[in-house]
Amino acid sequence: MAEKQFVDIHSHILPGVDDGSSSMEETMEMLRIAGSEGITTMIATPHYAAGSKNMDMEQLVGIKNKVQETAKELGLNLDILLGNEIYYSESVLEDVLSEKVMTLADSHYVLIEFGVREHFKTIYHGLQEFVLAGYAPVLAHVERYQCLIKREDLMEELIKLGSYIQMNSFSLCGGFWNTEAAYHRKLVNKGLIHLIGTDCHDAKRRPPCIESAYKAVRKHMSDIQIQQIFVEHPRKILENKYI
Ligand SMILES: [Fe+2]
Repeated sequence: MAEKQFVDIHSHILPGVDDGSSSMEETMEMLRIAGSEGITTMIATPHYAAGSKNMDMEQLVGIKNKVQETAKELGLNLDILLGNEIYYSESVLEDVLSEKVMTLADSHYVLIEFGVREHFKTIYHGLQEFVLAGYAPVLAHVERYQCLIKREDLMEELIKLGSYIQMNSFSLCGGFWNTEAAYHRKLVNKGLIHLIGTDCHDAKRRPPCIESAYKAVRKHMSDIQIQQIFVEHPRKILENKYI
């Protein structure tokens, strides 16, 4: 049995900063759920888009510290770290280089998202920019991009380039009649997914659930494979080591 001490590398738990948690109370409810799911560490990854109204880093650090303190007072034993979910645009790398945007937990990994209808070429070259600048880009919620659906060859190209692939935990859940979820599990099984994140936004509609995803893939994979994706790979991000 794999060890269940999950690290969630993709979450919107900070209150009032993006379309995630709307209040400290909701954040605490999300952390309660996360704890019950076996999550011990969460990287808060508020959305960042160049040219949009983004909260500055000091403010985010202040809110993160308040969340950590409040959680501690309530006996919620989770470590909260910081990063950003970076919406790709041509100029956004400059913002990362000038440290306006956060990498994942101060590592060389950056969580990058694209528009769902983005062309493969743009995704490829966008991720390549980060690789060439010395970062390890993690493509957020791979299952959303139309150009990558049923295109494992293209996913492989992105991996060869030096990027890592993240899938949302909910996308793995569903019975055998759910062909999409079954296909997503197949991608995990084939080793095309490096990381699972909850991408939680609230306590009800998009809560920080990961255990059902863990159970869903457990039937098809070895304990070693599962341990890697759910525990070891995210820990390597925290330690800034190569996956
Ligand atoms: Fe997200």
